[in-house]
Amino acid sequence: MSTEQNTAASERDRVIVFDTTMRDGEQSPGASMSLDEKLELAKILEEMRVDVIEAGFPIASNGDFEAVRQVSEIVTESVVCGLARAGVADIERCAEAIKPAKRGRIHTFLSTSPSHRDHILRASQEDILEMITGSVTMARNFCGDVEWSAQDATRTEQDFLRRCVEAAIKAGATTINIPDTVGYTYPSEYADIFRDLIENVPGADRVIFSTHCHNDLGLAVANSLAGVQGGARQVEVAVNGIGERAGNAALEEIVMALKVRGDRLPYHTGVDTTHITRASRYVSAITGFPVQFNKAIVGKNAFAHESGIHQDGMLKHRGTYEIMTPEDVGQGSSNLVMGKHSGRHAFREKLKDLGYELGQNALNEAFQRFKDLADKKKHVYDDDLIALVDDALAHG
Ligand code: KIV
Ligand code: ZN
Repeated sequence: MSTEQNTAASERDRVIVFDTTMRDGEQSPGASMSLDEKLELAKILEEMRVDVIEAGFPIASNGDFEAVRQVSEIVTESVVCGLARAGVADIERCAEAIKPAKRGRIHTFLSTSPSHRDHILRASQEDILEMITGSVTMARNFCGDVEWSAQDATRTEQDFLRRCVEAAIKAGATTINIPDTVGYTYPSEYADIFRDLIENVPGADRVIFSTHCHNDLGLAVANSLAGVQGGARQVEVAVNGIGERAGNAALEEIVMALKVRGDRLPYHTGVDTTHITRASRYVSAITGFPVQFNKAIVGKNAFAHESGIHQDGMLKHRGTYEIMTPEDVGQGSSNLVMGKHSGRHAFREKLKDLGYELGQNALNEAFQRFKDLADKKKHVYDDDLIALVDDALAHG
């Protein structure tokens, strides 16, 4: 393969990471963030090399407008995006907010499903098509980078969805987002929606297709990856998976799935994964949403090993029980947790770290005392180990 062919293949396989922590993420009840917190988060996301930062919904409030405007002022590498419904006031306000951005994007959306058409918009299919053309055309008059989203796309009739996407492309949209707004789709079904649109909609080859998955059935990450397999080249995600109801697809999970399983899904992102834990902790701190201990990638236990068999394996070779390292995601180092399932090998290594080299008899005695203690106590801390070893040495 020539260098040009390599570069072209690499571009084709590149997945754009669009972070919506500050917009959809902030729509989690109780997750609101202050202006300063958003500015700090924008800096972290940019350092992490996230491609697009959706900083808010400018018409929603003066605070949101100001956040989008100020994020647009400080971010220079990532694209800064604001959300707008399909109306003049929304689009004008959004255009105003992203004006200072070096690279700005207007993200405009409209519901397309029968349920939303009948119960929310009271609009016919023809009305929807007209509104798409009008709103995207207007957004393009302000900005060369326009994303159009079909809200509730996965519950929309596929032939109508094709017509909507065609109208948005004709009006000048550069990214087409197919949201699974209510977390209803299934991976193979979602992949098929993209395949169908990419194969059948005129002009589909000129735009980037995007996933936007909610987690109501716990499928947001699986669906997003299936969308990529179906041809999407942008994923919309939020740090720690926060967002409306059960949340959005988690940034850290998708980015690491693409990195770790490049053999199966030959696509890559530009994210510097070593910033992932910092971003996760920051979002948890400012929203007050704790990260569950067993959360993939960023949970406290994601690289902790307690059972004797696992600890023994880890001490022989890390790859036995780790498919990525905590260093890959900026999470310190692997942790062999001392508990009732721990084995003698890990116990001896732990004591070595604490400065003890015990003979066989003393080690046996200390290990027995440790097991007795671990049966009674949930956490055995380093200080507990020091105390019991000192005691075993003094009285053993
Ligand atoms: O879930 C959704 O449909 C959205 C759109 C506004 C993109 O968040
Ligand atoms: Zn959403």
